[in-house]
Amino acid sequence: MSVLKTTGLGKVYGSKKNILYTALQGVNIEVEKGEFVGVMGPSGSGKTTLLNLLSTIDKPTSGKLEINGIDPTKLNDHKLALFRRRELGFVFQDFNLLDALNVKENIILPLVMEGIKPKVIEQRLKPIVQMLQIEDLLAKRTYEISGGQKQRTAIARAIIHDPSLLLADELTGNLDSKAAKDVMDTLKQMNEQMNATILMVTHDPFSASYCQRIIFIKDGQLFTEINRGSNRQIFFQQILDVQSMLGGDFDDISFPRA
Ligand SMILES: Nc1ncnc2c1ncn2[C@@H]1O[C@H](COP(=O)(O)OP(=O)(O)OP(=O)(O)O)[C@@H](O)[C@H]1O
Ligand SMILES: [Mg+2]
Repeated sequence: MSVLKTTGLGKVYGSKKNILYTALQGVNIEVEKGEFVGVMGPSGSGKTTLLNLLSTIDKPTSGKLEINGIDPTKLNDHKLALFRRRELGFVFQDFNLLDALNVKENIILPLVMEGIKPKVIEQRLKPIVQMLQIEDLLAKRTYEISGGQKQRTAIARAIIHDPSLLLADELTGNLDSKAAKDVMDTLKQMNEQMNATILMVTHDPFSASYCQRIIFIKDGQLFTEINRGSNRQIFFQQILDVQSMLGGDFDDISFPRA
């Protein structure tokens, strides 16, 4: 069974003047357990709209969405809140950590909210912070750590409850190239060693080159899809090629980093 399946997914926004805008149309996406998938497309192509539908923040106006066999649009508010908390993990561009809490408290918050026993929490915490190389930072406050460390803390928080699907929106957007590389390296480890299923929206071809597969969208529709072979450098070049074919504004064209 696939973790994520969308069938003919669409979103039409209405405006105050009653002018409708089709931001997404007829999108079919299937993601299997353990896949690491990227979503790219020019500015305004519908990436955030898609992510908002998948993360159940917004509702589609057409088509069907299934996450782990469940259609979240059919759940009531209470069940939807539970669904989001249990089945999904989120990582955002601006980290969204709570400054009032230290690193450890930020990471374990989802488990504390679920009423999980402290002993179990410690057992889950340990391997994750080791993998993310933040085990020495647990007592630090969020303003005492770097951007890359913040994002790795956010990844730990997003994954500690073992969600069915990890959704990331421009997670390297606020990071310099070294921090971005560290974050992508650890995300790849999460994918390979914990079998985490990841769907990531990004503008950045370098970050995207870590994915196994990239879905390109244009004007709200699927444009093409490319798969990574064994060589990341070649994949990186393919990503740039599709971007130039797509045209439009990719706003931060980056170059290969060491
Ligand atoms: N709430 C809204 N109401 C009306 N139109 C919207 C709304 N949100 C987005 N749009 C429009 O839908 C289209 C897709 O927007 P979206 O934010 O999904 O693009 P994006 O691919 O994430 O772009 P970017 O790369 O710039 O973040 C755009 O034309 C946008 O203006
Ligand atoms: Mg966007």
